[in-house]
Amino acid sequence: MFDGIASRYDFLNHFLSCYQDVLWRRYCCKYLKKLIGAELRDETPLSETPRGSNKVRLLDLCGGTGDFAHTFRKIFEGGCACKGSSGTARGFVVDPAVIGDFSYGMLAEVKPKKINAHAVQLDAMKMPFAERQFDVILNGFGMRNVPDAKGALLESYRVLEAGGYLCVLEFFSPRNLFNKFFYKVLAPLFIPVMGAFFSGKRDAYEYLVNSIIRFLPVDEFCKLAEECGFEVQKVKMFDGGISFGVFLRKPERAA
Ligand SMILES: C[S@@+](CC[C@H](N)C(=O)[O-])C[C@H]1O[C@@H](n2cnc3c(N)ncnc32)[C@H](O)[C@@H]1O
Repeated sequence: MFDGIASRYDFLNHFLSCYQDVLWRRYCCKYLKKLIGAELRDETPLSETPRGSNKVRLLDLCGGTGDFAHTFRKIFEGGCACKGSSGTARGFVVDPAVIGDFSYGMLAEVKPKKINAHAVQLDAMKMPFAERQFDVILNGFGMRNVPDAKGALLESYRVLEAGGYLCVLEFFSPRNLFNKFFYKVLAPLFIPVMGAFFSGKRDAYEYLVNSIIRFLPVDEFCKLAEECGFEVQKVKMFDGGISFGVFLRKPERAA
């Protein structure tokens, strides 16, 4: 299904969300930088920082056309004063990122963006990587699409370094009145129509709305992540609950 909409995917994402998706990804990357940057002050020799390095090994899982990895690189590679923490965080060096996705069509859209990344066709529930290969895993709007979210969480845990972060940006099943009205009444009216108009694939955009309603609510997703061994660091609600950023950490002493 994603192969069929790949060429219009980015445009429709931005258009249908009124560019909010760009701001949500940016927030997530800035917050991750704050979490990791807190361990990496300018005045601390790198050898004395908990990670001993300013290199970040990044996996953008269900990464599609690579927008999340692109945002991450832009935000991480500049040194910045991170909001909410004292001092200045160093710029990081993002090792060539890995963008992993099931859909070849989506991955084919990575190249024109000239991101320094390897595009790898893979299944999020059974990844071709050894244990503890990555410091950060991003998952933007992918958890809802994999057949088994728990399988994807466990597999992300396996390939993540101890002390590493998994950031899940997702549309979760609506729970409050505003979200129920948005996803059950408004979204089914305009999203499939707009999707059909711009991509010719109405069914893909009907699937988008239905998959949100069928997915877990955010609190149940957090419980599932804890069952898989993660610590929940923060849950950030965007735009009244239209989407959420969930920041998970693999414990420092994890095997
Ligand atoms: C809604 S797109 C998200 C793309 C991108 N992360 C973003 O932020 O816009 C969901 C992606 O998940 C991928 N996907 C679905 N099931 C998958 C699986 N089992 N393994 C890997 N990727 C999968 C799809 O191919 C699609 O590219």
